[in-house]
Parts: sequence; C-alpha cells; structure tokens
Amino acid sequence: MSNKLPTILSIGKATQDVFLKSEEFDPHKEGKVMYTHLPLGVKMEVEDVTFATGGNASNVAVTFARQGLHAKYMWTLGDDPASETVLHDLDREGVDTSLVVQDAKYQAGYSVIMIATNGERTILNHRGVSTGPRGAGIDFKAIEAADWIYPTSLANGGVELLAHIVNAARRGDTKVILNPAGPELAEPVKLKAILEDVDVLVMNKEEMSQLVEGKTLEELVRHGLHLCPVVIVSDGPNGVVASDGKTIVTAGMYEDVPVIDRTGAGDAFASGFLSQWVQGKSLKDSIIFASANSTSVVTKIGAKEGILHQGVTLHDMPIEEKHL
Ligand SMILES: Nc1ncnc2c1ncn2[C@@H]1O[C@H](COP(=O)(O)OP(=O)(O)OP(=O)(O)O)[C@@H](O)[C@H]1O
Ligand SMILES: [Mg+2]
Repeated sequence: MSNKLPTILSIGKATQDVFLKSEEFDPHKEGKVMYTHLPLGVKMEVEDVTFATGGNASNVAVTFARQGLHAKYMWTLGDDPASETVLHDLDREGVDTSLVVQDAKYQAGYSVIMIATNGERTILNHRGVSTGPRGAGIDFKAIEAADWIYPTSLANGGVELLAHIVNAARRGDTKVILNPAGPELAEPVKLKAILEDVDVLVMNKEEMSQLVEGKTLEELVRHGLHLCPVVIVSDGPNGVVASDGKTIVTAGMYEDVPVIDRTGAGDAFASGFLSQWVQGKSLKDSIIFASANSTSVVTKIGAKEGILHQGVTLHDMPIEEKHL
C-alpha cells in the first residue's frame, strides 16, 4: 500500500434527526402493542432535545474523517434546513462534500425520534427527495477515481442505482464495501449479482440468514464467502464472526455498556472496520476497532456523537483467530 491516505467515497441519503425525550412519553400496553399517547389539542412538555444528523452514508463518512482518512460524501441534497444542517455537520467534521449536488428540487430526510421513558422509541420519518434509479447528479467518474466506495441507503435510487454505482466501481478498479439493508434484501437475485463486484460484505445475523443458509454466525460467514472475499456477520451484543478467506475471527462483546441509543451501531461497526482495513490492519485488529467504535456509539444519543477519534486507546476484548 502506498503512503497516500486512501480516499473513501460514501454515497447515500442523509437526514436531520431530532431526538425528543419526555416524561410524558410513557408507554401503555394495549394488547401486544406498546403506545405512547399523544392526546390531540394538548401541549406536552419535552425535557430534552438533541439535534443530530444521520443517514448511513453521512454517518460512515464521519468515522473515516475522524480516523484521518480522505473522507468524501456524495449525494443529492436541497436547500431545505435539514440539507443545510447535514452539510454544515459534515464540513465541520472534515468530510469533503464537494461532490454533493445541491438543488432546490431535492430534500434531505428528516426524523423526529421520540424516546419514551422505558428507552423505546417512536420515529416520525420523512425520507426526503433524492436522485432516482438512473442517478442524475451522481458523479460516476468520481466513483471510478476513488480507492473505496461505501454506497448505502440510496432512497429513491434503490437497487437499480446501486447496480450502476457498483458497475462504475468495477470499471475504475475501485473497491466496494456493502452493508445491505431492507430494500436490497427484498431483491435477493439482484443483490447477489451486485455482490460479485463487492469486496467486503457486512451484515447482521438476521439479514445474512435471508441470503445464505446457516444457524451460527460461523456457518453464515463460511457460506457468505461464496459471495464475497471478506464477510463479517454481527449479532448485536452477542458478538461477531469475520473471515477474509484465510483466517476466521470470532469476537464477543467489546464492553458491557449502558445502551442509550442504538441508532448508528451498524454504521459505526462497518465503517470502523473499513477505516482500519484500508490502512492494511489485520482482520482481527480491524474487528476490534469496529467493535469499539460501535460500542461507543450506542452510549450516546445520535449516530455520530460516539464515533471514535484517531489515536484513542483501545482495550482487550474476547477475540480469537484461527485458520480457515
Ligand atoms: N447492546 C449493545 N452493547 C454493546 N455493543 C453493542 C450493542 N448493540 C450493538 N453493539 C455493537 O454494535 C455492533 C453492530 O450491532 P448489530 O449487530 O446490532 O448491527 P445492526 O443490526 O446492523 O445495527 P443497525 O441496527 O444499526 O443496522 C455490534 O457488533 C456491537 O459491537
Ligand atoms: Mg445494520
């Protein structure tokens, strides 16, 4: 690997997330469903409000920037307050936003997250308005020029846009990390075709079970290696298994922390992994950092607040590595 810091281009939607915490959001059970009652015509007091930004691609870009890498972010945003807030946040973090196309016809996502007294949440989400399946505004040449891309949550673009993006990466010899979610998993045949050009695949246990057979994390990872050269499957606080086709790493929990807000755990994990892997760190060391980064994120409200900065000291965790 050259001395030049790798460029990682994150692509996908961004949101403004406003977290509201109130003693009045107390849970009531009706049948099997829990409700927070919001009576019409009443003003309810909110004790805490936290303004944050989210959206998978913007979250992962912040991990790369805080780890000192050349982090770029590309998407279509508008001139609405949410878009402006997202851009301001990314600029402040040192993420290069020069590839963002700002046009009044687009809008960032916007979410109000109501945190109830038991920690559960109700999310009111506006997905925003973004580019479509053909990717108007997406600079495919910039994808070809990057060292790595991290495409995620492509909103109105969907799986079709993902295929165009990954094709551009292949043309440019750009490496690809993918953490597929609902929309991609809903089209498994298209997803599997895309995976032929993906270098690192990160999924949670439930998602991976939809793609390959396997009961344990290790079985899922071994089967996943038929789809992708590096496969990582996480299972929340229960740990993670990863393999690069040479060794297989099995890790437990990094630290038993009080979980304040799970938002962004998966993003911090996958981006934490890549931030080390691109610098030539071992599979094991990259998993340790991924675990530390995601564990830190769940202790803070918002998806970005807990993301680790360069030079942070890590502690040991239960982890073992064996040959495949
Ligand atoms: N309760 C927890 N305590 C400590 N760490 C956690 C907890 N939940 C998640 N993490 C950390 O976050 C990582 C990713 O979490 P998880 O396996 O739930 O991914 P995910 O389901 O893809 O998350 P997301 O819902 O954000 O997409 C875990 O490997 C772990 O390091
Ligand atoms: Mg996830």
